[in-house]
Amino acid sequence: MDETVLGGGNASGRVVKVGHTVRKPWAASTPSVVSYMAALRDAGVDLPAVVGRDERGRLATEYVPGQLAIDRFPLRRDELRRVGAMVRAIHDASTSFRPPADAVWTTAIPAPDGEMVCHNDLAPWNLIVGERWVFIDWDAAAPSTRLWDLAYAAQAFCVNDPGRAPSDAALDLVAFVDGYDADAELRADLPTAMNDRALAMYRLLESSARSGREPWASMFTDDHGRHWQDASAYVGRHRDVWAVALSRA
Ligand SMILES: Nc1ncnc2c1ncn2[C@@H]1O[C@H](COP(=O)(O)OP(=O)(O)OP(=O)(O)O)[C@@H](O)[C@H]1O
Ligand SMILES: [Mg+2]
Repeated sequence: MDETVLGGGNASGRVVKVGHTVRKPWAASTPSVVSYMAALRDAGVDLPAVVGRDERGRLATEYVPGQLAIDRFPLRRDELRRVGAMVRAIHDASTSFRPPADAVWTTAIPAPDGEMVCHNDLAPWNLIVGERWVFIDWDAAAPSTRLWDLAYAAQAFCVNDPGRAPSDAALDLVAFVDGYDADAELRADLPTAMNDRALAMYRLLESSARSGREPWASMFTDDHGRHWQDASAYVGRHRDVWAVALSRA
């Protein structure tokens, strides 16, 4: 059957579409990732169905038709609210997933704690918007915390464009966090966590560029380095704006 190379593929090497499926390289963590995906689907979260291991040893998952959210930016506030609610549903379903004792996870940025398994890349470049709204690209799933995973998602969806007026970005952030239905403690902790998480991303790319660690080294030099440097500075510079907006909500 014909194979079509899909865009992206920053982190996982070659990603191809074959019929109604997507094929990605099989990694040491794939069995653990697949068990997490299956548990979330059983709990009612819509995500790509796992088809299995193909004849070439690759992971085959369901191809979900639609557009990437990043290609439809800016999302409307009601859409951001919807995505916030999706992140909440994923987190709530994740709390009852108990990984097997021999689970293997591959994640580049260490989490502050391991209270539950999280996606770790809930971002507009991994959300398919179509008849269904579905997060893809579950390969980086690993133990983390609600706060750390939400901080990344909220920052990536709402506070990722240093050219925007902070007051506008703050309204987006409130919509997203309202959709998540975050409690007062999470809201209070988010601005610092968003800052720390964006900085961690920048530092990963920057240190990988120095040590030659791929794929991060190439991402650093192709625009991602500059983007994360500017974005993390923006998140940090306007931390008070995010804090005031979230505390009022
Ligand atoms: N299940 C799917 N349904 C529809 N499209 C998909 C699916 N999985 C992947 N794609 C498409 O293939 C691209 C690359 O896939 P994916 O995000 O899983 O790879 P990646 O290597 O982790 O990419 P990146 O590091 O750029 O996020 C996605 O951006 C999307 O356009
Ligand atoms: Mg991706």
